[in-house]
Amino acid sequence: MRLGLIGLGRIGAFHAETLTGLPVVDSLVVTDAVPAVTRQVADRVGAQAVDSPDALLAAGVDGVVIAAATDAHSALILAAVDAGLPVFCEKPVAGSAAEAVQVLHHVADTGVEVHIGYPRRFDAGFAAARATVLSGELGWLHTVRSTTLDPAPPPPAYVAVSGGIFRDCAVHDYDAIRWVTGREVVEVYATGSNRGDDYFTDAGDVDTAATVLTLDDDTLALVSNTRYNPRGHDVRLELHGSKDSIAVGLDDRLPLRSVEPGATFPAGQPYDFFMDRFHDAFRAELEAFTEVVAGRRPSPCTIADALETGWVAEACTRSLQQHRPVRIDEVRA
Ligand SMILES: NC(=O)c1ccc[n+]([C@@H]2O[C@H](COP(=O)([O-])OP(=O)(O)OC[C@H]3O[C@@H](n4cnc5c(N)ncnc54)[C@H](O)[C@@H]3O)[C@@H](O)[C@H]2O)c1
Repeated sequence: MRLGLIGLGRIGAFHAETLTGLPVVDSLVVTDAVPAVTRQVADRVGAQAVDSPDALLAAGVDGVVIAAATDAHSALILAAVDAGLPVFCEKPVAGSAAEAVQVLHHVADTGVEVHIGYPRRFDAGFAAARATVLSGELGWLHTVRSTTLDPAPPPPAYVAVSGGIFRDCAVHDYDAIRWVTGREVVEVYATGSNRGDDYFTDAGDVDTAATVLTLDDDTLALVSNTRYNPRGHDVRLELHGSKDSIAVGLDDRLPLRSVEPGATFPAGQPYDFFMDRFHDAFRAELEAFTEVVAGRRPSPCTIADALETGWVAEACTRSLQQHRPVRIDEVRA
């Protein structure tokens, strides 16, 4: 199989290594808006370098992986599906849910498969949590707590086109809550603060956020995010039910230091970033995409599915701006 990869920044360069390591991938074609980056990554992984997305789409590839900056996603998805090529695109679908709706309609008309990247769906712990919830072992859920704390803030240029912390970071929590519980969000209340670098404020963004979600069965979910957690990349999901409670991310590499006298947990090297925390999940996710390209499975996370998560991020953005609870129906309208 011959694949194309557009965007070779933090996650794109990482995907280049994963893709060239998959036995099913015979060759990889790469491009980035910055030519020096294209050459550097192509040389490192042994890929073919081309100088534009158009050149990549014309290079005889069987499918396209998009890992460019968020504001480039929608145009690149449309160009690839118009060329009849299955797409894997990093979350989010677009810079806003309204733009994602346009992409949804256009892609539906082409019938080409698009897989949106939410790696937690391919993580062993999150998959075990989903199976446990669906088995009924927890009874009825009353409380879900989801945490994503980044060790260090992304650079100003990234923040400027990211869409804000809810669309960029908290979407992973919203998607995981939807996927693990099998429920939809009906209302949100979100707040945030800026105690870090000024460029978050300049971009109209916050560096720390908290969200309360009400699910359609009245389960309450609490989401916590920050860009400043130097102890490590802290990703956890707790699910508390009428019969039992479980947690994802509660292993020896949890980046938290207990001050309880005598406590020895957690004892391992803290996860330092998402490539480290979700290494195996990213590989499984891209393997799944190669099966989509081969026509052996449908997209495991369609644009329609990702758009539901997008509405939650949209409602949270509005809730922060207007300082009030926002129903998903309101933003969908
Ligand atoms: N699934 C995840 O866990 C995860 C993690 C990190 C990032 N992401 C997503 O991946 C995307 C990239 O994030 P990143 O951290 O690698 O950002 P980054 O800023 O490090 O890299 C983005 C790269 O895209 C290139 N680029 C921008 N527009 C382009 C275009 N039109 N054509 C070709 N290249 C273009 C830039 O030159 C840059 O090299 C974002 O949308 C982000 O939301 C997802």
